[in-house]
Amino acid sequence: MCKAMNRSFISVIAGGFGMEAPSSSGDVDQGEHREVTAEEVAEMLAGASSVVITPGYGMAVAQAQYPVAEITRILREKGVKVRFGIHPVAGRLPGHMNVLLAEAKVPYDIVLEMDEINDDLSDTDVVLVIGANDTVNPAAEDDPTSPIAGMPVLRVWDAGNVIVFKRSMAVGYAGVQNPLFFKDNTSMLFGDAKERVEDILRAL
Ligand code: TAP
Repeated sequence: MCKAMNRSFISVIAGGFGMEAPSSSGDVDQGEHREVTAEEVAEMLAGASSVVITPGYGMAVAQAQYPVAEITRILREKGVKVRFGIHPVAGRLPGHMNVLLAEAKVPYDIVLEMDEINDDLSDTDVVLVIGANDTVNPAAEDDPTSPIAGMPVLRVWDAGNVIVFKRSMAVGYAGVQNPLFFKDNTSMLFGDAKERVEDILRAL
């Protein structure tokens, strides 16, 4: 886990490692974020050829894995290529996301590790970031002053469109702002992840 985060044991277990030092991404005005509705996301998904879902701690909190599995099934039936990208420290326990997805009966062969999916994200139409934050933070690559600088991340911003499911603009475990939320190809879908995924299911 320390290797996956490129961090010392102490900083991993202490959490909130964004509080240690001021970061330029924390100080800078990131601009405006955009919001999207569940119905608009359903339309986007129905028109996509390739979709990647990157879950995080918020999917576990919301217990959204069951409607996520259902959306996956429906999209695959429509001929959309759906895969999952799992960061090694997504969630709060090793293998957290894999256990939840297996519980919801998502087929194993579409659940890929970060290193297996990262190079494919630029050929992906839509990425659904479901309750993840630190594991999809571009500051880790772009901002050498960020407390998470050097931590390997899922490069979701390379995709055509990114939809971020969370309840607010609040920070994640590391306590740092996420410039992903302000990128031109990112839209926020606010609310409890399970409720929003169920809204998309209804619209699909
Ligand atoms: P985080 O960076 O913790 O972000 C999770 C996000 O989920 C939060 O920003 C939160 O935003 C959102 N969320 C919470 N409840 C939600 C709900 N009901 N519906 C929708 N969204 C919800 O998660 P991550 O990307 O999975 O990263 C994991 C972090 O934990 C990393 O920093 C990692 O180093 C650390 N960590 C991991 C482990 C292991 S072994 N996996 C162990 C210890 C620490 P809102 O509050 O705005 O909703």
